[in-house]
Amino acid sequence: MEKIPIGADHAGYALKERLKAELETLGFEPVDVGTDSTESVDYPDYAKQVASQVGTGAVARGVLTCGTGLGMSYTANRFAGVRAAVAWTPEIAELSRRHNDANILVLPAHFLDEDQGLEILRRWLEAPFDGGRHERRVAKIEADK
Ligand code: RB5
Repeated sequence: MEKIPIGADHAGYALKERLKAELETLGFEPVDVGTDSTESVDYPDYAKQVASQVGTGAVARGVLTCGTGLGMSYTANRFAGVRAAVAWTPEIAELSRRHNDANILVLPAHFLDEDQGLEILRRWLEAPFDGGRHERRVAKIEADK
């Protein structure tokens, strides 16, 4: 069963709980790094726990959510090998996989209803990386910074 680390701050907490249940329904093993309530916390603490696992290759992909998705994506994208995509529609989620080989999905909880969030998650999980010309471009992200 594929392990998928998932994290949220207080703004994303409720959505994270729905995403976690959906991951289980779909046959994944979500590994919840927190937070565990709506009490105010700092998003980098959770982004780092998910991004470090994806960056080392310990897991293939992860999921994060906060109010806008921005703080989580800024933090996660500082880790080598991480490509964290903020997606607010299923189409963007799919393209983040097909074109950018995104390995972390970031959801902006304040700008989605939870059912939209689940649909975005499903589309992201099932979309493949298209490779080809996109392979070259993705490789350039890490090359000679
Ligand atoms: C928390 O209030 C909010 O700043 C956070 O969830 C996120 O939107 C930050 O990028």
